[in-house]
Parts: sequence; C-alpha cells; structure tokens
Amino acid sequence: MRTVDLITKKRDGGELSEAEIRFLIQGYTDGSIPDYQMSAMAMAIFFRGMTPEERANLTMAMVESGETIDLSAISGVKVDKHSTGGVGDTTTLVLAPLVASIGVPVAKMSGRGLGHTGGTIDKLESIPGFHVEIGNDEFIELVNRNGVAVIGQSANLTPADKKLYGLRDVTGTVNSIPLIASSIMSKKIASGADAIVLDVKTGDGAFMKEMSEAQELAACMVDIGGRVGRKTVAVLSDMSQPLGNAIGNALEVKEAIDTLRGQGPSDLTELCLTLGSHMAVLSGAASGKEEARALLEQAIESGKALEKFKTFLASQGGDASVVDEPERLPTAKRLIEVPAKESGFVASIAAEQMGLAAMLLGAGRATKESPIDLSVGIVLRKKIGDAVQAGEPLAVVHANEVGVEEAIARIYESIAIQPEAVRPPSLIVGEVH
Ligand code: URA
Ligand code: CA
Repeated sequence: MRTVDLITKKRDGGELSEAEIRFLIQGYTDGSIPDYQMSAMAMAIFFRGMTPEERANLTMAMVESGETIDLSAISGVKVDKHSTGGVGDTTTLVLAPLVASIGVPVAKMSGRGLGHTGGTIDKLESIPGFHVEIGNDEFIELVNRNGVAVIGQSANLTPADKKLYGLRDVTGTVNSIPLIASSIMSKKIASGADAIVLDVKTGDGAFMKEMSEAQELAACMVDIGGRVGRKTVAVLSDMSQPLGNAIGNALEVKEAIDTLRGQGPSDLTELCLTLGSHMAVLSGAASGKEEARALLEQAIESGKALEKFKTFLASQGGDASVVDEPERLPTAKRLIEVPAKESGFVASIAAEQMGLAAMLLGAGRATKESPIDLSVGIVLRKKIGDAVQAGEPLAVVHANEVGVEEAIARIYESIAIQPEAVRPPSLIVGEVH
C-alpha cells in the first residue's frame, strides 16, 4: 500500500477500506507516514468527508493505536459522559456522585483544563488533599466499593489521536466533523466505556457554534457508537451563556455541592438531571427516563447524592468536610462587584469572553505548563433574560493579585443589556439516539 495512492483516492472522493485506514493510522503513529502526507490526508477528509463505515473504522484504528482500559472487573454497564466543552461546566462534579448514588458505576478518566474551559481534575484538586494519582487496580477497586472514582487521562491512550489532533491544529483541519467525532469517540472507547452519553454544546461558548453543525456532530458520534457496539445517546445543550453561575475551580466545586444539595442554579440542575437520566437508563439502573429522573431527584432530596460525594472525596484523599464547610475551599482575597451601567434586560453573555475573563484572573491555563489559581473566578448574578437595574451587580469577581482590571473590562464587553424584555434561551435543544 502506498500512502500517496490513499491520499489521491480520498482527494477524488473515494472511500477508504478498513485495511487502508488501519495502514494510515498505524503508519502515522509509528512515524513511517510523515506529517506532510497525513496533513494532505486530513485536508482531503476535510473537503470530502467520510462515509459512516470510514468514520467507525477510523475511530477503532485510533483506539487500537494505544493502550485501552479494561473495566470488565467492574460489575455492571459502565456509562461514560462526555461534554464537547463549555464555560463554567460543572456537570461532571455533580453527575459522578449523583448517578453513582442510584447504582450507576462511574469509572471516569478526566482531563485538566486548557485555555478558557476548565478541567474536571483541576476543579477536584481545589479540595484539600484530593488526588487522582491512583493505579488501575485501586481505581477499579474504588469503583467496585463506592460506585465512583476519577483518575487522570492515561498518557498512552489513543496516541494516534494525540498526534493527529496536534497536526490538525496547525493545518486548518480541526473543524471537520468526521475527524472531531472519531477523535472524541476513540478516547471514550479506549477508556473502557460500554455506553456513552454525550453533551454536545452549541452557541457562543461551544466548539460548534451553529445548531446545525452541533446536530451533525451529535448524529455522527451516535452513529459511530452504534457501529462499534457502544450504545450512544447525545443531548444538545445551549452554551450561548456560561452554565450555572460560577466560573472558576473552587467556585465551581461550591456550585456542584449546592446542586447536589438541591440548591444549585436551575440550568445546571436541569442538565445534570437530563444527562443523568440517560446514564441511568443506559446502565440499566432505571427502566425509563421518567423513572430515572425520579430516582435522581430522590437522591438529591434524601441527601444520598451528597453523601456519595463525601465518600468519593474521602476515598481519594480529599477533605470531605468542605461539603458542609465550603469556606475551607481555597478563597480569593478580594471580592469585587461589577455593577450594571444601565437598566434593562440581559440580552447576551458571551460565554467564551467570560471564560477568558476568568482565565485572566488566573483560573485557566494559557499553556499546558501554566500554574492555575484555584480560588479565583467569576460568579454571575444575572443570566440571559434577567431584569437589571443600573448599579446592581451583574457579577462578582473573585480575585487575587492579577488581572482584575482586564477581567472587569471583558465582563462588561461580554454582557449586553437592552431595554426590551428578553426570552431566556432553552437549555436542552435536542437529543439524538
Ligand atoms: N475535541 C476532541 O477531543 N477532538 C477534536 O477533534 C475536537 C475536539
Ligand atoms: Ca458553573
């Protein structure tokens, strides 16, 4: 097989066979196929797309390029959740203990944040003592014992995807739906999921800003999952404004605790109940969505979900007393209110700008090596549709030494106020099965 023949085949609109895709991915991973040929291939795929079979074969070739996690020692159907990334998205922190408390095993691999979106592991590490450096055997034992554990992403998972993503990033080929879909699905499958619930974001703060693109991406991933034997469900959710009120690591932990207590922001609560219901149904913990939702609501009301969160934190070295005493979490030195300059209704809150504002305060990383300040961030006091009087706080900035002026300027830029009433956006905008 010659790589150049495969490139011209795809360039001319042909379909690559399973063996051809495997050859490409193996060769690219072991270095026998150079970056310039893979770049040409990625660009050909960008313009020509891929058939459903090609997408499934690409996904599995990337899974097989590295280590895969075997979760078969955990009893039950392991359902993983993946979000395509948003601002202030605290769902994993809520969902993991919430669904575990009704019997859905959660064996989760999570990442750190880069750029304007935060990572679940960074957020969890704002709990004193909490760590994710546990071996595979202990990970499995914890899930069997407590129903939930979270570890860092293994460095050896899907090396083909890591290399290809790096290449796409510098060759204008990130935004290809088949390439994004196979990239995401390969990581979920390699980390051992039997079934997958996807939260595909749409709107300003999302990767896919257009609803039609988000829908296509969701359908593509659900199709891949079905073809490779992992039942997949996608929920399309709005990211035209940050999720919940808090943006920032410790602030989001506090928001997750509030939500597990039944006192969280309504959008975050609703998204967690929706995603959690799908997880419960796929795992067999509930027979239908209504039953699942009722079980989840009961777990919140009875305090079972919050108890599970404490058990989960303590089992990974964390100080579970933060749940009842959130003031033990890292706290910023200065709290600065950002008052509205005019009266009216909040028309938009540019999520990406808001994420960048939090990053300027030190909540996010500019590069992989940058340190982050777990205590800082932004708490919104108004969301889209809310009425506001001039002088009332739109948000509160939690800051230490850096970035205050710049962050406040960004917050003003990102929030638009208009005289006419505004209808808040729907949170759940679609579902793909
Ligand atoms: N996220 C991924 O994991 N892969 C992509 O290709 C794009 C977003
Ligand atoms: Ca939030």
